Amino acid sequence: MNSSHSDLQIAGDILEVQHLLQPAREHPATVAEFVGLARAIAADRSQWAHLVQYDAVSRWYHRLRTGPGYEVWLLSWVPGQGSGAHDHGTSSGVLTVLEGELTERTDRGVRRLSDWSQRVFAPGYVHDVVNDSLEPAVSLHVYYPGLTDMAMYAGEATPATQDVVPA
Ligand SMILES: [Fe+2]
Repeated sequence: MNSSHSDLQIAGDILEVQHLLQPAREHPATVAEFVGLARAIAADRSQWAHLVQYDAVSRWYHRLRTGPGYEVWLLSWVPGQGSGAHDHGTSSGVLTVLEGELTERTDRGVRRLSDWSQRVFAPGYVHDVVNDSLEPAVSLHVYYPGLTDMAMYAGEATPATQDVVPA
């Protein structure tokens, strides 16, 4: 049937037919959407560049945004600063390098993460992140659910819990 001969007609206002509308979700809910959120923030320096501070004494972090079931943190790393090996409790996460270069060590090896590199991890993932470069680095961390507990691994069989410091 040629569409020009269709006798289908829509009566009234199509926007009133709610089930036909697929509004964009206000908040991310899937891994792909969390990755997309991180990339969108990474691309918009006005959301984060003016907030970044560098602290030679301890790693600087700032909660950039919260939403239902997730948190977004901004971290800075001066050369030599690192997280130590840690997990993220029951949280999954997306780590995105915004500036500079970070090195991630896991039991699977060493990975260099530079501008816009992203790592997606599930609960239980253990890594050690360090700025091994000669320049400061900035990273963005999305945790879902928000980070409520984490454990440090210093070679002991039983990890030690610590205050929650995004990493
Ligand atoms: Fe981490």
